[in-house]
Amino acid sequence: KSEITNKLDNKIRVELDAADDLYEKKNYLNSKALYEEILLKYPYSPRALYGKANCLSKMAEIERSNQLLEESIRVFNLLVTAGDVPDQLLLTAGPELARLQTFRGWNTRAIKTHQLLADRFPKNISLKNQLGVSLLIAGQNTRAKTVFQQVLDIDKNNGFGNVHLGFIYKVENQDLEKAVKYLRAGLNSNAPGTIEGKFYFHLGDALVRLNRPDEARQVYIEGAEKGVLLSPDQRSLYNVNHLTGRPWWTVEQTGYSKYIKLLEDNWKIIRDEGLANMDVEKGVFLPESENLIETGDWKQFTLYARGRQDKRNCQRAPKTCSILQQIPDAIECSRGQVKFSVMHPGVHVWPHTGPTNCRLRAHLGLVIPPGPKIRVANDTRTWTEGEVIIFDDSFEHEVWHHGDSLRLVLIVDFWHPELSTKLRKQLTAI
Ligand code: LMR
Ligand code: MN
Repeated sequence: KSEITNKLDNKIRVELDAADDLYEKKNYLNSKALYEEILLKYPYSPRALYGKANCLSKMAEIERSNQLLEESIRVFNLLVTAGDVPDQLLLTAGPELARLQTFRGWNTRAIKTHQLLADRFPKNISLKNQLGVSLLIAGQNTRAKTVFQQVLDIDKNNGFGNVHLGFIYKVENQDLEKAVKYLRAGLNSNAPGTIEGKFYFHLGDALVRLNRPDEARQVYIEGAEKGVLLSPDQRSLYNVNHLTGRPWWTVEQTGYSKYIKLLEDNWKIIRDEGLANMDVEKGVFLPESENLIETGDWKQFTLYARGRQDKRNCQRAPKTCSILQQIPDAIECSRGQVKFSVMHPGVHVWPHTGPTNCRLRAHLGLVIPPGPKIRVANDTRTWTEGEVIIFDDSFEHEVWHHGDSLRLVLIVDFWHPELSTKLRKQLTAI
C-alpha cells in the first residue's frame, strides 16, 4: 500500500488499514464510518476519501441507489482534484470515477475526468486512448481524432490508437485512404481492443468505396475467421446468436404468410397513399441519411421506426397504417422500420449491411418499372408490382436503378420469426 500512501496518510495508516479491513470484509457501513471519522480530522486524506467513495459506490450498487452513486461520485471528485494524491491512487481512482460517471449517464463529466488524467500523465498512452473512446461515445469525433493522433505521435504502432483513428476517418468519409491505412495497421497489431466487428466492417466498406472489392472480401473473411463477423456476407453488429441466417426467404419460411397476403391484397391502396404523399411538396419523403448511396436520388417516408408509430406520418397514410396495425410482428419490431422507399433512375446503393440479424425485410412492390434490381449476397432479383419479396438485410446487399422512371416499394421489417416474445421485448431498439 505504500504506493498509494502519501506522507500524511502514512502517519495515520493504522486507522486507514483498519477501515480498509472492514471494507474487505464487505462491512461497508462501518468502514465508511471509520473513513469519515478520519476525514473529520484530515479532510483531504487521499486514502480516506478513496475508501469512503468506494464504500458509497458499493452501497449504491447493493441498494440500487442513484443518490448514493452521486454521493460516491462527489467524493471521488474531491479525491482526484485534491493535492498530493499519489500517482498510483490517482491511476486507480480516476478511471473508476469515469466509469461511475458514465454509468450515471454523465458523459460530459466522464470526459472531464479522462481529460484530467490524460493531462496529469501526458506520456500515458492508455489514458489517452480511454479519453479518445469517451469522446467518441459522446460523438465528439473531432476532439477524439486529435487525441488518437497524439497517441500515434507518441507510438505510431499503437494498435488501439490506429483502429480508432481509422474508424474516425472512415465515418467522416473524407479521406478513405487514411481510414484504410490506420484501420489496417490497427487490425494487424492484434492488440487488445482492436479485434472488433466494427473495425472489419468499416475497413471493408472503405475498400469497396475505393474500388478495391477483392481486398474488402479478404477483410470480411478475416473478420469472420476471428469470430467477430457472423460470416463474410452477414456483417450486422447487433446480433442474437443461432438465428437462421439466409439471404433470401420465401414467404412460407417466415411463417408470416397471412400478413404477407394482407399486404399483397391491399397493395393498390398502399401504393396510392405512397404516391399521394410524393406529390405533396411538404417533404415527407426524406433523403436516405446513412451515406449509403454512390449516385442518384433515394428517399424514404417512415411510418414506424424502432417499434413506434410516427403519428403524423400515419395521419398522412391512414389506410396503410390501419392495415399495418394488424401486423404486430412488424409494427412492434423495435429493431426495424416500416417505410415507403422511392428510388429514381440513376441510383446506385453501395453494397452494405443492416445493423442487426433480428429482422427480416419485406419489400412490397408498388411502382416497378423495368430497370431496378437488388443483389443480396450472390443472388440478384427484382420487384413485381403487388408482390412481396423478403430478404435478410444483415447480409450484404446492393441496389441499382437503371430504368427510366421511379421505383416505389413499401419496406416492412418483421421480427426474425425464431425470436421469442420474451427476447423481442428485451432487445434494445435500433
Ligand atoms: C435497402 O434496404 O437497403 C434497400 O433495398 C432499400 C430499397 O429501397 O431498395
Ligand atoms: Mn439496406
